[in-house]
Amino acid sequence: MQIQWFPGHMAKARRQITEKLKMIDVVFELVDARIPLSSRNPMIDDIVGNKPRLVLLNKSDMADPAVTKQWQDYFAEKDIRTVTVNSKTGQGLNRISEVARDLVKEKFDKMIEKGVKPRAVRALILGIPNVGKSTLINRLANKKIAKTGDRPGITQRQQWIKVGKELELLDTPGILWPKFEDQTTGYRLAVTGAIKDEILDFGDIAFFAIQYMKEAYPDRLIERYKLEDVSAPPLEVFEEIGKKRGCLLKGGEIDYEKAAEIILRDIRSEKLGPLSFERPSDF
Ligand code: G4P
Repeated sequence: MQIQWFPGHMAKARRQITEKLKMIDVVFELVDARIPLSSRNPMIDDIVGNKPRLVLLNKSDMADPAVTKQWQDYFAEKDIRTVTVNSKTGQGLNRISEVARDLVKEKFDKMIEKGVKPRAVRALILGIPNVGKSTLINRLANKKIAKTGDRPGITQRQQWIKVGKELELLDTPGILWPKFEDQTTGYRLAVTGAIKDEILDFGDIAFFAIQYMKEAYPDRLIERYKLEDVSAPPLEVFEEIGKKRGCLLKGGEIDYEKAAEIILRDIRSEKLGPLSFERPSDF
């Protein structure tokens, strides 16, 4: 597979994050609630080390609520705290500060014992491109902060953003690249729009989506595309959707490209409702 990040970029991003980690008490790891594992960088545990961490399941409005609940249980079993959020509307954000306080309680209690004056909890947002870091920072800051661009090399003056009295956030997030060796992770990232469509074949991404939905959300496919059923092999389901949508070339052949475009657009614009593309049981 072609999608690989350049090791030099990753090393640099990692160095920058390590620098930032020195200044903060807690990491907010932002993941896509629809693909909470695929949207993490596999090196995250290693990079964050034993800094307290809160996983924010973002875009929860687009994810299947029942599956999101399974993910919350999954993380809880691993002793990782989570909060489900919608950074666009701000839903769930008020829980963040409270959980962050809780995560640093021991450290802060010790500081207070030593006579250090209590201060706000300092946090860093960390996540892969497009997961919603800027949206979240803007929401928490309650004002528009310029998007920094997803290039790890950018050097900037660091500022603290005050979020109420209890929390301070670094204004530039830590950016990690998604990394994957297996095809499925790549397709999951592509379906949700985390990586550019040009990287993988458009038809293949849509095919993957059909294949997954055929098992996980058959009724949604049937309803949206007015299908009889989805028991046929994925390619036939794909073709049937193409036909129903009038994606035909001259001579009546299926226009796969056009059908793929419609399917992916429908998924991403939530025409099929909230969907998750991985479940804990898939792993
Ligand atoms: P980044 O900094 O991590 O790269 O991500 P960014 O905030 O730019 O967000 C990427 C896209 O995800 C944006 O959409 C943003 O609006 C959307 N987004 C972020 N959080 C949420 C969420 O909780 N729910 C939903 N539904 N969407 C979210 P865009 O299409 O690039 O821009 P726009 O449509 O908002 O203009």
